Amino acid sequence: MKRRKFIKKSFFGALGASIITGIYSWQIEPFWLEFVKVKMTIKNLPHHLKGKTLMQISDIHVGNRFDYQYIIDSFKKAQQLKPDFVVYTGDFVSYDSNEQLKQLTEVFKHVVTGKIGTVGVLGNHDYGKDWSEQAVADKITAILEASGITILSNEQKNINGLNIVGLDDFWGLNFNPQKIMNEVSPEPATIVLCHNPDVCDLDVWNQYKGWILSGHTHGGQVKPPFLNPPILPVKNKKYSAGKIDLKDGRTLYINRALGHLLQVRLNVRPEITIFELE
Ligand SMILES: [Fe+2]
Repeated sequence: MKRRKFIKKSFFGALGASIITGIYSWQIEPFWLEFVKVKMTIKNLPHHLKGKTLMQISDIHVGNRFDYQYIIDSFKKAQQLKPDFVVYTGDFVSYDSNEQLKQLTEVFKHVVTGKIGTVGVLGNHDYGKDWSEQAVADKITAILEASGITILSNEQKNINGLNIVGLDDFWGLNFNPQKIMNEVSPEPATIVLCHNPDVCDLDVWNQYKGWILSGHTHGGQVKPPFLNPPILPVKNKKYSAGKIDLKDGRTLYINRALGHLLQVRLNVRPEITIFELE
């Protein structure tokens, strides 16, 4: 009798815990934004940029997979922090149809901009179906540029002494990092934006030493404690989230994403990163 009671109690206890975890990972954590602060040491940083902030926003995924009012609310919180630079590292939409262009326009009425500059790169989802629709990428670029973001496609832009290189997406139609990386001078303070961190393992960096800001993985969205996330859309499974020393003078930072593909997150809260330049 006692044993039967114990089994019954354990069963309902486990069921209750699963339901609570389910609701938490579906309704709470996907919208529980964390602002993560990270110090960013940049070689030859001009004196007037010391102490300035650079905000990274990644993988917004505007679309029909979750309520994007959350993105608008997050943008409002982010803008209140008055960042000096803002960089966007791709996947602005979860593209199904042209409806996302309207949604993107609506969300980017609340765009977060930097006092000194605002730039971005595209991700694979910004290239439409099968990452192969140039017309979709062009329309998304036009909306973002109209919102005040300079989209860099294998280009560099020096903003007030900080040189920002933007690589086009690895899985998209315009991946071509070599030419621009050969043009990047080692002298000025430089950072690189690159949506997919797998690019770090390719032979395209031409002696570049410095920070590379990525997204794409969303930190796996679900991560068991002390283990790697089971689902990561990268070849190199070490590239899940956070700061990674690539041991050759380069430092990779992978942002855990503001939005998500499926509305589920467990132990991987959405992130906006605030780098302090030094
Ligand atoms: Fe993404």
